[in-house]
Amino acid sequence: MSRIAYVNGRFVPHGQAAVHVEDRGYQFADGVYEVWAVLGGRLADAAGHFERLERSLTELLIVPPMGRPSLEVVLKETARRNRVREGLVYLQITRGVAPRDHAFPRPGTPPSVVCTAHSLDRAASDARAERGAAVITVPETRWSRCDIKSVALLPNVLAKQQARAAGAVEAWFVDDLGLVTEGASSNAWIIDKQGRVRTRDTQANILRGITRKTLLSVMAREGLKVEERPFTVEEALEAREAFITGAGTLLLPIVSINGKQVGDGAVGPVAKRLRRLYIEEARRTAL
Ligand SMILES: Cc1ncc(COP(=O)(O)O)c(C=O)c1O
Repeated sequence: MSRIAYVNGRFVPHGQAAVHVEDRGYQFADGVYEVWAVLGGRLADAAGHFERLERSLTELLIVPPMGRPSLEVVLKETARRNRVREGLVYLQITRGVAPRDHAFPRPGTPPSVVCTAHSLDRAASDARAERGAAVITVPETRWSRCDIKSVALLPNVLAKQQARAAGAVEAWFVDDLGLVTEGASSNAWIIDKQGRVRTRDTQANILRGITRKTLLSVMAREGLKVEERPFTVEEALEAREAFITGAGTLLLPIVSINGKQVGDGAVGPVAKRLRRLYIEEARRTAL
């Protein structure tokens, strides 16, 4: 089946989908993005991702190109035209096309909007979640506004490549104090040696993950305690369990860090249960 992309108001064959060379996303990484998991053909955690998108745009003073209902149509239509039942929808909005100048273009320059979608093999993801995955750690080198979901992802790209080369799925950034901030494209969690579920607080310089947010509300509903408190790499290595969350992986148990096993090196019961609870909730509430 041929893939279709949405580019500035038109659905076009993926191979011909293009933006101008002077698009500010291309030249300055001057734009934001969002990623929705598609579960059963519907958008997971839809409202949370829309809210964060609107916030990212506001923080960068990019005027939203369209309202939420229209964006929703674009996302769903992109998923539908690509026959995505299980997968991801990617949306990118940049400050638009203008002669290259660092300062903003003239007011009224239309933002560029691109949307793509692709299918994921959930059976393969489930199998990976059963086995557990590996992470490595890398020094935190990012800017101080990681709360904005900006397309400027070079440190994340380099970190992820380092992880890939080491046979790991993710790289965890570690700040100057030795505390884990988050993954290159996910939030980081442990079940510490006392059995407490822990993840970094959102006062820290991290992306406020929407999967993280939904999981916190599911845990609250289930009466499961969680501490939004930083942890060191050593604490993660001594932990009983670890996992990551994000629209791409949903919730993926982590069984090794820098080649050393977490707990007994097997996927633990808490991560397994939380994955099931999160996916049930996300499927139930998908839009
Ligand atoms: C740096 C970073 N942290 C966390 C996440 C997880 O966020 P979400 O759960 O909203 O997908 C992502 C997702 O892409 C990310 O890029």
